[in-house]
Amino acid sequence: MKSQQDPSGDPPFHPKTAASIRGGLPRWIPDLVSAFDMVSRPGHLFTGGAALDPLVFRFRVAWEHWFIFRGEAAHEQFFQLRPDDVDPFFFRMRMPTLRLPGVSPPPDMTRSTMGTRLNLMAVFREQGLQSLVDVFLDEARVATARTFHQPEGQIPDFFDFCLRTCIRGSSRALLGDALFEALPDEYTDWYVDIEGDLTISRLMVPWWPSFARTPGNGAAALVDALRGLIEDRRRLPPERAPRDLLQHYLTRRVIDGQELLLTDDEIIWTLNSVEWAAHHYPAVHAFWGMIDLLSNPDVLHAVMQEQSRFDDVNGETVGEMSLLNGCVLESLRRHPLVALPRLVKRELTFCGVDLPPRSVLAISPYLCHHDESLYPSPHRFRPARWKAPGVHPSPLHFIPGGGGQWGCIGMRLTTSWLTGLWALLLRQYELAFVGEAPRLDLTAMLMPPADKTAFTYRLRSGDGLGT
Ligand code: HEM
Repeated sequence: MKSQQDPSGDPPFHPKTAASIRGGLPRWIPDLVSAFDMVSRPGHLFTGGAALDPLVFRFRVAWEHWFIFRGEAAHEQFFQLRPDDVDPFFFRMRMPTLRLPGVSPPPDMTRSTMGTRLNLMAVFREQGLQSLVDVFLDEARVATARTFHQPEGQIPDFFDFCLRTCIRGSSRALLGDALFEALPDEYTDWYVDIEGDLTISRLMVPWWPSFARTPGNGAAALVDALRGLIEDRRRLPPERAPRDLLQHYLTRRVIDGQELLLTDDEIIWTLNSVEWAAHHYPAVHAFWGMIDLLSNPDVLHAVMQEQSRFDDVNGETVGEMSLLNGCVLESLRRHPLVALPRLVKRELTFCGVDLPPRSVLAISPYLCHHDESLYPSPHRFRPARWKAPGVHPSPLHFIPGGGGQWGCIGMRLTTSWLTGLWALLLRQYELAFVGEAPRLDLTAMLMPPADKTAFTYRLRSGDGLGT
């Protein structure tokens, strides 16, 4: 594992960078201050005063009041919130990724996301999680062979590789072969284009116009393609239609005794929101997790030893790679959202605090995952913490995918996808980032680094596992 700037080969990356990445953020930024920093940085339109309180952090961004609560009691109450009181996380996604030209968001977001959950669960049940992992890994193999096509070389933008791999892998797994094959090759480019519109401030203040980038035509092309596919599918007699995610959307559903039959626009909107969730987050974690791994040679060494016990990477074996699984969990723990928001619909008392309608009520996965009492040495990358007997992620304290009735439905699947992707890469190639490793900052929770990160690679000799 040698970086180009490091001809001596020892150590394999810039020592200063390694130290700062290993040390992590919090040594130099206390927790609450880091959250404060995020909203108060220029460009985030911070206008209000913050009352720092150990359990609730309040601030105002223009007319929007934010309340970020911490502590177990708050998490418990948060995950029991009902649709009458709040709208879920995706209300926040009025940003470019989910704002599609000519497509209005579903008027009843809660019912549509419930529909989405049922549809996805049906696909998980019908296909089986292992087979959804195998499909993802097939695409990952193709992407890897295309990108790493010499015995050694350089990948100019490693996040681009992660993103394209996750777009193709997750689309094929979730949409199914029939729909995936009907999509044009440019489908991946459209989502890469859409990703280019995403910034952390757009998540925090989605209504704030951005002049940073002229949007490409990715979103418009995506809408046209999905509209055409839905129209084609509606013309097919149901008995001839493939039994896939789209077909579940087109089938009448009853939720809480009420019929849910989505329009084409609603299907496009919700399908896109799922598609985006299913490739964006995994790609970001594939990226930062790999940076974590390469910054910790001792962990990497142990991972390679674990790999030598496996002949193949597939839907079955990934579940047995406990250390590499631990690396994924550690990456999910270290890089979660700073704030997981809900939109308050009507006056609400939460943990003794009165919240006005239209305010934003949030808890902080980031603060929780860096709580010393829950995770000793929280800023260190220590995948072994997940291997200790009896250690299970707690649904109140390990919340990279939120929780409760709107919690992420793809967490187990993602853990296997990422374990498999890293296993494929590490078994075949020696990887190193070129020069300084990208700096971890608060945007690392949701975004790749602002600048491209080049990686060098070299094909391992033999099977690379010392066997
Ligand atoms: C590293 C990977 C992932 C991360 C960090 C992540 C994170 C999240 C978060 C924070 C939420 C909001 C939860 C809440 O409001 O309580 C969410 C919701 C959701 N995620 Fe994930 N996610 C990931 C992967 C996936 C995958 C692979 C899928 C698809 C299979 C998926 C599908 C969804 C859906 C459908 C929702 C909305 C649930 C609802 O509103 O009912 N996610 N995810």
